[in-house]
Amino acid sequence: MAEKVLVTGGAGYIGSHCVVELLEAGYHPVVIDNFHNAIRGTHGLPESLQRVQKILGKEIEFEEVDLLNKDALSSLFDKHKFSAVLHFAGLKAVGESVEKPLLYYKVNLTGTIHLLEVMSSHGVKKLVFSSSATVYGDPKYLPIDESHPVGGCTNPYGKTKYFIEEMIKDQCKAEGDWCAILLRYFNPIGAHVSGRIGEDPQGIPNNLMPYVSQVAVGRREYLNVFGNDYNTPDGTGVRDYIHIVDLAKGHIAALKRLETSSGCKAYNLGTGVGYSVLQMVKAMEKASGKEVPYKIVARREGDIATCYADPALAAAELGWKAEYDLDRMCEDLWRWQSHNPTGFSTEH
Ligand code: WQD
Repeated sequence: MAEKVLVTGGAGYIGSHCVVELLEAGYHPVVIDNFHNAIRGTHGLPESLQRVQKILGKEIEFEEVDLLNKDALSSLFDKHKFSAVLHFAGLKAVGESVEKPLLYYKVNLTGTIHLLEVMSSHGVKKLVFSSSATVYGDPKYLPIDESHPVGGCTNPYGKTKYFIEEMIKDQCKAEGDWCAILLRYFNPIGAHVSGRIGEDPQGIPNNLMPYVSQVAVGRREYLNVFGNDYNTPDGTGVRDYIHIVDLAKGHIAALKRLETSSGCKAYNLGTGVGYSVLQMVKAMEKASGKEVPYKIVARREGDIATCYADPALAAAELGWKAEYDLDRMCEDLWRWQSHNPTGFSTEH
């Protein structure tokens, strides 16, 4: 009997790619989402999950549930015997979190508290949490390992990730038989090799590569490069970009680790290699054969110069490391974007 795993926010970019890997690894995912950031497809399924069903030829169990509705969440746990939970659901726009901090604290923190309470009342004690390298704040040293100080977050979104990590740590201390893994993502990019699913930000993309790919496909005129006066090789920001499928496989490795460990531990999911904005533009031009015009503009508030991971702990304890290189990340991103110029709303 396949292990049943609850996937909160499983219609999103990271969640949907993890659902693919869960199914391929023989798990039985049950997905919940509130459609805050997902396009509705047919039969009440999010379009992203419709596509996953077509890619794999497998049905996906989905329910529209909002974590703020604790009763609905509890009924879900009455109905299903989950062996573990992968928790992705939450708001994630850095800029928006600065404008609407209380919304971010309500959705991300209250939603997670409901989830932890219902897990506890139903005896579900294994959890993988979608955290972020943003919990490290401005790096004190590089590469960043998991012993780097956390909590120096510069925006409410990052603070919610940090607070949730702390809530989960305290819950694991309070109920000694819990086991949780916090996965600190660096910069996930790219798409499933089929080109059928990928990142589909609503409105103007906050993140670099969705914006770059929209310029390459002709949806946007040019890229604004947020500053070229950083202390980096070409003056533009350096980040650790990781293929979304590598990231998704990291979740399967974490689930397997939960079977033999206890307590709460954090792992970086990154490649250990940093690339600058201009290097990413060049890589996308190579993968797409398209020009990506750009303009150098002022720095973005809160940005740091350089950030990249020391991924050794995940390799040692999860038996996981990123396999895909930058060319592959951009090739897969281009296949998704060129087949879906306006994301999930249309498919060419
Ligand atoms: C990358 C680089 C920008 C856009 C954020 C969140 C983090 C996580 C990943 C959720 C930087 C530059 C960007 C643009 C640009 N999100 N840039 N023009 O800031 O490293 O991390 O996304 O978990 O929590 O903080 O990623 O893609 O926004 O920026 O020049 O239009 O690209 O200055 O150097 P970031 P990013």
